Amino acid sequence: MDDVTFIILGATGNLTKKKLIPAIYHLIENKKIKKFAIIGVARNKTQTKTILNKSKKHIKNIKQKVWKELENNFHYLPLDFYQQEKFCSLDPFVKNIEKKNKLSGNRLFYLATLPQHFPVIAKTLKKCALTKKTKNNWVRAVFEKPFGHDLKSAKKINKTIKKIFKEKQIYRIDHYLGKELIQNIAITKFTNTFLEPLLNNRYVDHVQVILSENVGIEERGPFYDKYGVIRDVLQNHMMQMLSLSTMEKPKKFSGNYIRDEKVKILKTVKTTKELVVGQYIGYKKEKGIPKNSKTETFAATKLFVNNKRWKKVPFYLIAGKKMKNKITSVYFQFKKAQCLNINNHCDFKANYLTIQIQPEEGYYLQMNAKVPGEEKVTAVKMDFCHACTFGPNTPAAYETLLEDVIEGDQSSFVRTDEIEQQWKITDKITEQKKKLYKYKIKTYPKQANKLIEKDNRKWHLVVK
Ligand code: BG6
Repeated sequence: MDDVTFIILGATGNLTKKKLIPAIYHLIENKKIKKFAIIGVARNKTQTKTILNKSKKHIKNIKQKVWKELENNFHYLPLDFYQQEKFCSLDPFVKNIEKKNKLSGNRLFYLATLPQHFPVIAKTLKKCALTKKTKNNWVRAVFEKPFGHDLKSAKKINKTIKKIFKEKQIYRIDHYLGKELIQNIAITKFTNTFLEPLLNNRYVDHVQVILSENVGIEERGPFYDKYGVIRDVLQNHMMQMLSLSTMEKPKKFSGNYIRDEKVKILKTVKTTKELVVGQYIGYKKEKGIPKNSKTETFAATKLFVNNKRWKKVPFYLIAGKKMKNKITSVYFQFKKAQCLNINNHCDFKANYLTIQIQPEEGYYLQMNAKVPGEEKVTAVKMDFCHACTFGPNTPAAYETLLEDVIEGDQSSFVRTDEIEQQWKITDKITEQKKKLYKYKIKTYPKQANKLIEKDNRKWHLVVK
């Protein structure tokens, strides 16, 4: 693996503390990077030690030797990207460290800031000559999600950053794409001959995409209130879950081929007016939330993937904060088999397949079997537990994704047309004016049950 200089913009934020520094720690621990430097930049006049100490708490079973190596190579510079002249002092600072550490000048810029700052940061980096590359080094820029606020703003960001970076230098993050079970969806579908032919409107009754969280908005009040659950997770994570589980087999299993297939799916998505939104009781008392906030923390909706394979199969999406459990899954419910002609026996269930992204990663297939000694049928599960087979220590999403950036592999990042299609769908959902239902913590608005029950179906809000 190449040597690398990480330049993190937004180095005092939550993401750096909770995800980026721990991910770099694990890259060092797993010997995925050997020669490197980390340069943190933010407006605050804080100290390197303060940033690192806050992050340390998010690493389990820390090894002192590895941590020391990270600490020795971490530098912090308080700078404001809106003050271009001063900001340009970053250039000699970086060069100096690269020279001292004998690094080749491979630069990974990580924009861990709010999306409205992306254009200005990109322009400033260029003006300060930080993005200059030669034949012998690479320069890549990672843009944290959310990428914009709607289609219009996403297009505007794309337009600006594309004047500075080529598409092959741009890495738009959706950390779900780094999750082991998400990476598994397409592979499993296309390497199991029994599965792929069944996943279509002939056999599937409906699909549910579930992202239920028991946590609230944590320390992100002002950010969250501008976004709400639809823009925060439906636009990105849930659209990825949907497109990966419904796409056709790509010509090759790599970067642009996979993204081509996902975009084809997104282009066929038809939203409906069936939408329920809610806000948990107590949300307005959270830090940084206005007393009259109308932001949704829960949403349930129905849509269609209007292509030959999936025509008429309803897709139900449900997502929310402060619900009862943390469950992320894609649930395929199959059509019920015909009644048995012995005694017109009909008392059995429809099959289903759950791709369980978290917790208890794995696949669960519900089948029917005869109860021994009786003429009765009961539901049984075929259960693939990922951790039982592969062990509990699969790399965390950000570690996998940073490794991909260093290797120049864009398969698990979001392309321009993909992000714009995602926003197109999201805009159609958010532009609907719906009543905001209140819901108690550990529940969700009961109107969401009506949305699915009127079609004689039920939410599958359980693990497995
Ligand atoms: C983030 C959202 O992208 O994903 C958060 O901004 C959400 O609001 C989080 O909690 C969920 O991610 P995970 O990995 O915990 O499922």
